Amino acid sequence: MLALGIEGTAHTLGIGVVTEKEVLANVFDTLTTEKGGIHPKEAAEHHAKLLRPLLKKTLKEAGVSIEDVDVIAFSQGPGLGPALRVVATAARALAIKYNKPIVGVNHCIAHVEITKMFGVKDPVGLYVSGGNTQVLALEGGKYRVFGETLDIGIGNAIDTFARELGLGFPGGPKIEKLAQKGEFYIELPYAVKGMDLSFSGILTEAVRKYKSGKYRVEDLAYSFQETAFAALVEVTERAVAHTGKEEVVLVGGVAANNRLREMLKMMTEDRGITFFVPPYDLCRDNGAMIAYTGLRMFKGGIRFNLEETIVKQKFR
Ligand code: KG4
Repeated sequence: MLALGIEGTAHTLGIGVVTEKEVLANVFDTLTTEKGGIHPKEAAEHHAKLLRPLLKKTLKEAGVSIEDVDVIAFSQGPGLGPALRVVATAARALAIKYNKPIVGVNHCIAHVEITKMFGVKDPVGLYVSGGNTQVLALEGGKYRVFGETLDIGIGNAIDTFARELGLGFPGGPKIEKLAQKGEFYIELPYAVKGMDLSFSGILTEAVRKYKSGKYRVEDLAYSFQETAFAALVEVTERAVAHTGKEEVVLVGGVAANNRLREMLKMMTEDRGITFFVPPYDLCRDNGAMIAYTGLRMFKGGIRFNLEETIVKQKFR
């Protein structure tokens, strides 16, 4: 079976074509600005403008025609209302025009589900990106969020810190490089609240310390990563202990970070369980994960009628 997936929850429009076993195409276009941050209306305009050319490119790369597709999947949320609406409308139009079934997919779940294409069975997922930070896993046949950020996403916290340091956007790779040169740990607020996380305190304190001029930026970047990542690992480990699961997967744009990978690897090795990170193009926001999750849902008997795919949000 073949599925087409359209991702557009934030600033990336991604379209992918997959089978149960492989990705045939996974094409993106991300709206980026110098300063970072996303304006919902601009993201929606970006997606609307690029949908047709990106769809054409994806189908060409996959070597299939839209008539060959068995199901059309789209990112139903969570995300920016105007952007979600463009993607849902496009998916609906394709479903009507080509008389195909349609499935709405949860973006966060899709990030974790795509790891199953690589043989992962039933993992605890740590999903870390600009806008989202969640620890989630299947429990009793349904995905449950075990812990999440109470304020900003980890990627957003890192990007904002990088911006304060004048490093530009995206800040993640630049902070990672600086952190590698860090020598001294500078204390920053460590915030795990129950199973949830908070990054705004770390950010405020790191910026305050930077502005004081008393600390090396390398040490601050190093301390920022160590503090925030330790909290992420702690919550992930608690979810593992609670569920008894034997696999951990790391997904989302921040999964590119080698220090975070290393810390999770240590935790999973200590517990004698497996750890997996998908290739980067399947970690970041992408259409293939939506297609794959939609295909699994469809095969599992989930059906949507067209009314269920309408995004009930005002377009501003
Ligand atoms: O999943 P993603 O592509 O989309 C958004 O949610 O925006 O993630 C992008 C995020 C940005 O915050 C970026 O700074 C972060 O991933 N990122 C990293 C690294 N590479 C990208 N964060 C930490 N270390 C990295 N090497």
